[in-house]
Amino acid sequence: MSTTDSVRDNLLARIKTSDTPYEVLRAPELKALAGELQSLPVEQRADAGRALNELKQSLQAAIDVRQAELLDQAVVPIDVTAPWDLNSQRPELLSTETGTQHPITVELERVIDIFTRMGFDAHESRQLDDDWNMFGALNFPEGHPARDGYDTFRTEEGFIPPAHTSTMQNRVLRADKQKLEAGGNIASISYGRVFRNEDVDATHEHTFYQVEGVFVSRDASLSQMLGTLRAFFEEYYGQKLAIRTQPGYFPFVEPGLEFMIEKPASIGGKPGEWLEMLGCGMIHPNVLTAAGIDPTEYRGFAWGGGVERMIMLKYGIEDLRHFESGKLAFLRKFA
Ligand code: DAH
Repeated sequence: MSTTDSVRDNLLARIKTSDTPYEVLRAPELKALAGELQSLPVEQRADAGRALNELKQSLQAAIDVRQAELLDQAVVPIDVTAPWDLNSQRPELLSTETGTQHPITVELERVIDIFTRMGFDAHESRQLDDDWNMFGALNFPEGHPARDGYDTFRTEEGFIPPAHTSTMQNRVLRADKQKLEAGGNIASISYGRVFRNEDVDATHEHTFYQVEGVFVSRDASLSQMLGTLRAFFEEYYGQKLAIRTQPGYFPFVEPGLEFMIEKPASIGGKPGEWLEMLGCGMIHPNVLTAAGIDPTEYRGFAWGGGVERMIMLKYGIEDLRHFESGKLAFLRKFA
């Protein structure tokens, strides 16, 4: 066997099992053969050169075969219906950190859960609405100064990203009015994002969440409303609470009230430290009429307030801006 033959057998064998077969082309044996060429007598060089070329070609062919084989092994059939990490060839490289729900989502679900257990339906509010639902149906006459209090954004087409979830009242009342005709009540909450064109600071955001409730029956009363709200807040904060109200003006209720709770000592409150939690009142007859409900036969109460404020009190959060900041340090506290 010539030197060339033994080098070929040896290198071919290495190529067949190597993960990096092309490196075999840099083997010292090959370099040595090329070096020997120079020292051969002239008449032998042509044959030896040809033999060396053939050797390189056969090595290259073997490398191509091996590369294709390696590629085949690397392509494992993927189950496209499986969770993405199951298809990974290198699961150790995947992040083991999993995401979590945003604290607003978690708390909103608690709120919805409490109200649905109390017998309320729940609907997500719209993120784009119109002047009628934002104002007209809620007894804000055209040009009424109370409209300015809502700092509404408007699209070029005149639509309004709602500034409160009260925009849902007319829809809910209309949709559920046959329940009254069938002898039942309307009991519904609407929740979702609202938007206000105002300067952002620790207690004001352009985007936040509200929860709105309406209840209509033949004999709905303020005392039922106060009992409902008290039951809700005591369940949400997991303790007995002192409550009180003070007059508040909202065109869609009469009387209108601000509902307050005394900040519990367990979360650092001092006696007499009252916090305004939401606006509420008996639904104005014009609002019932706008929804096709006869205010001489039926009455209702309604309330609405910010979700972040409730969460801030529960967890002692000082700055409203944390919620929309996307800061992981804040979000991880709730993980
Ligand atoms: N929509 C009011 C606001 O955002 C809050 C409110 C007050 C809602 C009284 C109500 C209500 O349903 O009866 O400022």
